[in-house]
Amino acid sequence: MESVARADFNGTLEAGFTGHPKFDPLTGEHHALTYEPGQPVRYISLDQNGRATTKARINLPHIPLIHDMAFTASFIVIPDLPVTFQPERSEAKFPWLWDARRDARIGLLPRDGDVTALQWFEAPRCFVFHFVNAYDDGDLTLIDLVRHPRMFDRDHNGPNEGAPTLVRWTLDRRSGQLSETLLDDHGTEFPRINDRFGGQSYRFGYTAHWGRDVRFGPAMKHDMLRGTTEIHHYGPDRMTLEPIFVRKPDALAEDEGWIMSYVYDAARNLSDVVILDAQDFAGEPVATIHLPVRVPFGFHGEWIADDIPELPAA
Ligand SMILES: [Fe+2]
Repeated sequence: MESVARADFNGTLEAGFTGHPKFDPLTGEHHALTYEPGQPVRYISLDQNGRATTKARINLPHIPLIHDMAFTASFIVIPDLPVTFQPERSEAKFPWLWDARRDARIGLLPRDGDVTALQWFEAPRCFVFHFVNAYDDGDLTLIDLVRHPRMFDRDHNGPNEGAPTLVRWTLDRRSGQLSETLLDDHGTEFPRINDRFGGQSYRFGYTAHWGRDVRFGPAMKHDMLRGTTEIHHYGPDRMTLEPIFVRKPDALAEDEGWIMSYVYDAARNLSDVVILDAQDFAGEPVATIHLPVRVPFGFHGEWIADDIPELPAA
Protein backbone atom coordinates (compact mmCIF):
# COMPACT_ATOMS: atom_id res chain seq x y z
CA MET A 1 0.00 0.00 0.00
CA GLU A 2 1.07 3.55 -0.62
CA SER A 3 -0.05 6.80 0.96
CA VAL A 4 -2.16 9.00 -1.30
CA ALA A 5 -1.41 12.25 0.51
CA ARG A 6 -0.17 13.65 3.78
CA ALA A 7 -2.06 16.20 5.82
CA ASP A 8 -1.32 18.09 9.02
CA PHE A 9 -4.84 19.53 9.39
CA ASN A 10 -3.88 22.92 7.95
CA GLY A 11 -0.81 23.16 10.15
CA THR A 12 -2.75 22.66 13.36
CA LEU A 13 -1.19 19.30 14.18
CA GLU A 14 1.95 19.79 16.30
CA ALA A 15 3.25 16.21 16.06
CA GLY A 16 2.00 12.74 15.12
CA PHE A 17 -1.60 11.58 14.91
CA THR A 18 -3.32 8.19 15.20
CA GLY A 19 -5.01 5.55 13.07
CA HIS A 20 -7.96 5.46 15.47
CA PRO A 21 -9.65 8.83 15.89
CA LYS A 22 -13.20 8.35 17.20
CA PHE A 23 -16.25 10.19 15.85
CA ASP A 24 -18.47 11.91 18.39
CA PRO A 25 -22.00 12.04 16.94
CA LEU A 26 -23.18 14.60 19.51
CA THR A 27 -20.53 17.24 18.75
CA GLY A 28 -19.36 16.23 15.26
CA GLU A 29 -15.72 16.22 16.36
CA HIS A 30 -13.22 13.37 16.27
CA HIS A 31 -11.36 12.58 19.48
CA ALA A 32 -7.80 11.26 19.28
CA LEU A 33 -5.06 10.13 21.63
CA THR A 34 -1.49 10.14 20.39
CA TYR A 35 1.73 8.70 21.74
CA GLU A 36 5.30 8.85 20.46
CA PRO A 37 8.83 9.20 21.85
CA GLY A 38 9.70 12.80 22.70
CA GLN A 39 6.08 13.87 23.23
CA PRO A 40 3.65 13.73 26.13
CA VAL A 41 0.50 11.68 25.56
CA ARG A 42 -1.78 14.17 23.80
CA TYR A 43 -5.55 14.39 23.64
CA ILE A 44 -6.56 16.07 20.38
CA SER A 45 -10.00 17.20 19.27
CA LEU A 46 -10.45 17.45 15.51
CA ASP A 47 -13.35 19.72 14.60
CA GLN A 48 -15.76 19.47 11.68
CA ASN A 49 -13.65 21.88 9.65
CA GLY A 50 -10.59 19.66 9.97
CA ARG A 51 -8.77 21.75 12.59
CA ALA A 52 -6.85 19.90 15.30
CA THR A 53 -6.73 21.30 18.83
CA THR A 54 -4.43 19.73 21.40
CA LYS A 55 -6.62 19.89 24.50
CA ALA A 56 -4.35 18.06 26.94
CA ARG A 57 -0.71 17.07 27.28
CA ILE A 58 -0.22 14.26 29.81
CA ASN A 59 3.37 13.90 30.97
CA LEU A 60 4.25 10.40 32.14
CA PRO A 61 7.63 8.99 33.21
CA HIS A 62 7.29 6.39 30.45
CA ILE A 63 5.70 6.20 27.00
CA PRO A 64 2.77 3.78 26.86
CA LEU A 65 1.59 2.24 23.60
CA ILE A 66 -1.91 3.67 23.09
CA HIS A 67 -3.40 2.15 19.97
CA ASP A 68 -7.00 3.31 20.31
CA MET A 69 -9.19 5.38 22.64
CA ALA A 70 -12.72 5.74 23.92
CA PHE A 71 -14.78 8.65 25.17
CA THR A 72 -18.01 9.34 27.04
CA ALA A 73 -20.22 12.44 27.28
CA SER A 74 -17.94 13.73 30.05
CA PHE A 75 -14.59 11.96 29.77
CA ILE A 76 -11.74 10.89 27.52
CA VAL A 77 -10.54 7.38 28.41
CA ILE A 78 -6.74 7.22 28.78
CA PRO A 79 -5.22 3.72 28.78
CA ASP A 80 -1.83 3.40 30.55
CA LEU A 81 -1.06 -0.29 30.17
CA PRO A 82 2.21 -2.17 30.54
CA VAL A 83 3.44 -2.06 26.95
CA THR A 84 5.91 0.82 26.78
CA PHE A 85 8.67 2.27 24.63
CA GLN A 86 11.96 0.79 25.79
CA PRO A 87 14.83 3.05 24.71
CA GLU A 88 17.45 0.36 25.34
CA ARG A 89 15.72 -1.57 22.55
CA SER A 90 15.42 1.43 20.26
CA GLU A 91 17.59 -0.30 17.64
CA ALA A 92 14.98 -3.03 17.41
CA LYS A 93 12.40 -2.90 14.67
CA PHE A 94 9.65 -2.57 17.25
CA PRO A 95 10.91 -1.30 20.64
CA TRP A 96 7.48 -1.39 22.32
CA LEU A 97 7.47 -4.31 24.74
CA TRP A 98 5.67 -5.80 27.71
CA ASP A 99 6.95 -3.85 30.72
CA ALA A 100 7.28 -6.09 33.77
CA ARG A 101 7.94 -3.02 35.94
CA ARG A 102 4.60 -1.40 35.30
CA ASP A 103 1.11 -1.92 36.62
CA ALA A 104 -1.95 -1.27 34.49
CA ARG A 105 -4.25 1.68 34.97
CA ILE A 106 -6.88 3.59 33.08
CA GLY A 107 -7.67 7.26 33.41
CA LEU A 108 -10.73 9.46 32.98
CA LEU A 109 -9.77 12.89 31.69
CA PRO A 110 -12.51 15.56 31.72
CA ARG A 111 -13.39 16.53 28.15
CA ASP A 112 -12.10 20.07 28.69
CA GLY A 113 -8.62 18.55 29.00
CA ASP A 114 -7.99 19.57 32.63
CA VAL A 115 -5.10 17.23 33.44
CA THR A 116 -5.20 18.17 37.15
CA ALA A 117 -8.64 16.47 37.32
CA LEU A 118 -7.49 13.26 35.59
CA GLN A 119 -8.67 10.31 37.75
CA TRP A 120 -6.69 7.05 37.51
CA PHE A 121 -8.10 3.59 38.24
CA GLU A 122 -6.04 0.48 38.90
CA ALA A 123 -6.80 -2.08 36.16
CA PRO A 124 -6.05 -5.77 35.63
CA ARG A 125 -2.58 -6.28 34.09
CA CYS A 126 -3.33 -6.79 30.42
CA PHE A 127 -3.13 -5.03 27.10
CA VAL A 128 -5.82 -3.41 24.97
CA PHE A 129 -5.55 -2.48 21.33
CA HIS A 130 -9.20 -1.65 20.67
CA PHE A 131 -12.08 -0.22 22.63
CA VAL A 132 -15.67 -1.03 21.70
CA ASN A 133 -17.40 1.93 23.33
CA ALA A 134 -17.76 3.75 26.67
CA TYR A 135 -20.46 5.74 28.43
CA ASP A 136 -21.39 7.29 31.75
CA ASP A 137 -24.18 6.04 34.00
CA GLY A 138 -24.45 8.25 37.07
CA ASP A 139 -21.29 7.86 39.15
CA LEU A 140 -20.20 4.94 36.98
CA THR A 141 -18.31 4.96 33.71
CA LEU A 142 -18.61 1.76 31.67
CA ILE A 143 -15.87 0.88 29.20
CA ASP A 144 -16.18 -2.10 26.84
CA LEU A 145 -12.93 -3.34 25.32
CA VAL A 146 -11.02 -6.29 23.90
CA ARG A 147 -8.64 -7.49 26.57
CA HIS A 148 -5.41 -9.33 25.68
CA PRO A 149 -3.90 -11.23 28.63
CA ARG A 150 -0.39 -10.07 27.66
CA MET A 151 1.39 -8.46 24.70
CA PHE A 152 4.90 -8.22 23.19
CA ASP A 153 6.44 -10.21 26.02
CA ARG A 154 7.59 -13.56 24.61
CA ASP A 155 6.50 -12.83 21.04
CA HIS A 156 7.69 -9.45 19.78
CA ASN A 157 5.97 -10.09 16.46
CA GLY A 158 2.57 -10.46 18.16
CA PRO A 159 -0.26 -10.14 18.82
CA ASN A 160 -0.08 -13.81 19.77
CA GLU A 161 0.02 -14.28 23.55
CA GLY A 162 -3.37 -15.68 24.41
CA ALA A 163 -6.84 -15.13 23.00
CA PRO A 164 -8.34 -11.70 23.63
CA THR A 165 -11.87 -11.51 25.06
CA LEU A 166 -14.63 -8.95 25.27
CA VAL A 167 -14.88 -7.41 28.75
CA ARG A 168 -16.58 -4.49 30.47
CA TRP A 169 -14.69 -2.36 32.95
CA THR A 170 -17.00 -0.50 35.33
CA LEU A 171 -15.29 2.47 36.95
CA ASP A 172 -16.89 3.82 40.11
CA ARG A 173 -15.78 7.43 40.15
CA ARG A 174 -16.79 7.90 43.79
CA SER A 175 -14.90 4.91 45.22
CA GLY A 176 -12.12 4.96 42.62
CA GLN A 177 -12.57 1.21 42.07
CA LEU A 178 -12.66 -0.73 38.82
CA SER A 179 -14.51 -4.02 38.37
CA GLU A 180 -14.41 -6.32 35.35
CA THR A 181 -17.21 -8.37 33.75
CA LEU A 182 -16.63 -10.90 30.98
CA LEU A 183 -19.09 -10.09 28.18
CA ASP A 184 -18.18 -12.96 25.83
CA ASP A 185 -15.59 -15.73 26.19
CA HIS A 186 -15.12 -16.17 22.42
CA GLY A 187 -11.71 -15.03 21.22
CA THR A 188 -12.38 -11.70 19.54
CA GLU A 189 -10.83 -8.57 18.02
CA PHE A 190 -11.54 -5.57 15.75
CA PRO A 191 -14.68 -4.27 17.50
CA ARG A 192 -17.04 -1.84 15.79
CA ILE A 193 -20.38 -0.25 16.69
CA ASN A 194 -23.01 1.93 15.08
CA ASP A 195 -21.01 5.16 15.39
CA ARG A 196 -24.20 7.13 16.10
CA PHE A 197 -23.97 5.54 19.57
CA GLY A 198 -20.35 6.48 20.25
CA GLY A 199 -19.87 7.67 23.85
CA GLN A 200 -23.47 6.80 24.71
CA SER A 201 -25.40 3.85 26.13
CA TYR A 202 -25.58 1.26 23.36
CA ARG A 203 -26.58 -2.34 22.76
CA PHE A 204 -24.72 -3.92 19.83
CA GLY A 205 -21.05 -4.54 19.05
CA TYR A 206 -19.55 -6.32 16.03
CA THR A 207 -16.23 -8.16 16.09
CA ALA A 208 -14.09 -10.66 14.20
CA HIS A 209 -13.68 -14.05 15.82
CA TRP A 210 -10.13 -14.79 16.98
CA GLY A 211 -9.51 -18.52 16.66
CA ARG A 212 -6.58 -20.72 17.55
CA ASP A 213 -3.17 -19.51 16.34
CA VAL A 214 -4.63 -16.07 15.55
CA ARG A 215 -6.83 -17.58 12.86
CA PHE A 216 -9.74 -15.28 12.13
CA GLY A 217 -12.93 -16.57 10.53
CA PRO A 218 -16.51 -15.67 11.38
CA ALA A 219 -17.88 -12.30 12.40
CA MET A 220 -19.85 -11.87 15.61
CA LYS A 221 -22.69 -9.62 16.69
CA HIS A 222 -22.80 -9.08 20.44
CA ASP A 223 -26.00 -8.03 22.17
CA MET A 224 -24.76 -6.31 25.34
CA LEU A 225 -28.29 -6.10 26.75
CA ARG A 226 -29.20 -9.76 26.44
CA GLY A 227 -25.65 -11.12 26.71
CA THR A 228 -26.03 -13.12 23.50
CA THR A 229 -23.83 -13.53 20.43
CA GLU A 230 -24.82 -14.22 16.81
CA ILE A 231 -22.21 -15.65 14.46
CA HIS A 232 -21.83 -15.26 10.70
CA HIS A 233 -19.71 -17.96 9.07
CA TYR A 234 -18.28 -16.85 5.73
CA GLY A 235 -17.46 -20.41 4.65
CA PRO A 236 -14.42 -22.67 4.87
CA ASP A 237 -11.06 -20.89 4.89
CA ARG A 238 -12.73 -17.51 4.61
CA MET A 239 -11.60 -15.02 7.26
CA THR A 240 -13.16 -11.69 8.04
CA LEU A 241 -11.35 -8.56 9.09
CA GLU A 242 -12.97 -5.72 11.02
CA PRO A 243 -16.78 -5.76 10.51
CA ILE A 244 -17.79 -2.16 9.92
CA PHE A 245 -21.34 -1.02 10.62
CA VAL A 246 -22.90 1.25 7.99
CA ARG A 247 -26.20 2.81 9.04
CA LYS A 248 -29.13 2.58 6.62
CA PRO A 249 -30.58 5.96 5.60
CA ASP A 250 -33.32 7.04 8.04
CA ALA A 251 -32.64 4.04 10.28
CA LEU A 252 -34.47 4.02 13.60
CA ALA A 253 -33.15 0.88 15.30
CA GLU A 254 -29.53 0.76 16.45
CA ASP A 255 -28.80 -2.31 14.34
CA GLU A 256 -30.62 -1.11 11.23
CA GLY A 257 -27.71 -1.14 8.83
CA TRP A 258 -25.16 -3.21 6.95
CA ILE A 259 -21.99 -4.94 8.05
CA MET A 260 -19.16 -4.51 5.55
CA SER A 261 -15.88 -6.33 5.82
CA TYR A 262 -12.95 -7.61 3.85
CA VAL A 263 -13.07 -11.40 3.79
CA TYR A 264 -9.93 -13.24 2.78
CA ASP A 265 -10.54 -16.35 0.72
CA ALA A 266 -7.55 -18.62 1.23
CA ALA A 267 -8.42 -20.92 -1.70
CA ARG A 268 -8.25 -18.01 -4.17
CA ASN A 269 -5.67 -15.95 -2.26
CA LEU A 270 -7.92 -12.96 -2.92
CA SER A 271 -10.25 -10.85 -0.81
CA ASP A 272 -13.94 -10.06 -1.10
CA VAL A 273 -15.98 -7.22 0.32
CA VAL A 274 -18.94 -8.96 1.93
CA ILE A 275 -22.04 -7.03 2.97
CA LEU A 276 -24.43 -8.43 5.59
CA ASP A 277 -27.75 -7.13 6.83
CA ALA A 278 -26.99 -6.41 10.50
CA GLN A 279 -30.52 -7.42 11.51
CA ASP A 280 -30.19 -10.77 9.70
CA PHE A 281 -26.63 -11.30 10.85
CA ALA A 282 -26.35 -15.07 10.40
CA GLY A 283 -28.27 -14.99 7.11
CA GLU A 284 -27.01 -14.96 3.54
CA PRO A 285 -24.91 -11.93 2.55
CA VAL A 286 -26.68 -9.08 0.79
CA ALA A 287 -23.77 -8.85 -1.64
CA THR A 288 -20.26 -10.18 -2.20
CA ILE A 289 -17.82 -8.07 -4.23
CA HIS A 290 -14.81 -9.95 -5.55
CA LEU A 291 -11.64 -7.86 -5.43
CA PRO A 292 -8.76 -8.50 -7.83
CA VAL A 293 -6.32 -8.32 -4.92
CA ARG A 294 -5.66 -9.69 -1.47
CA VAL A 295 -6.17 -7.04 1.22
CA PRO A 296 -3.33 -7.28 3.75
CA PHE A 297 -4.45 -8.98 6.93
CA GLY A 298 -5.06 -6.61 9.83
CA PHE A 299 -5.78 -3.67 7.50
CA HIS A 300 -8.22 -1.42 9.33
CA GLY A 301 -8.52 1.97 10.98
CA GLU A 302 -11.01 4.77 10.61
CA TRP A 303 -13.15 5.54 7.58
CA ILE A 304 -14.21 9.17 7.30
CA ALA A 305 -17.02 10.25 5.01
CA ASP A 306 -16.03 12.50 2.13
CA ASP A 307 -18.62 15.11 3.04
CA ILE A 308 -16.22 16.78 5.47
CA PRO A 309 -14.15 19.65 4.02
CA GLU A 310 -11.25 18.64 1.81
CA LEU A 311 -7.87 18.81 3.44
CA PRO A 312 -5.12 20.23 1.26
CA ALA A 313 -2.49 17.76 0.15
CA ALA A 314 0.93 18.55 1.60
FE1 LIG B 1 -6.30 -0.87 15.32
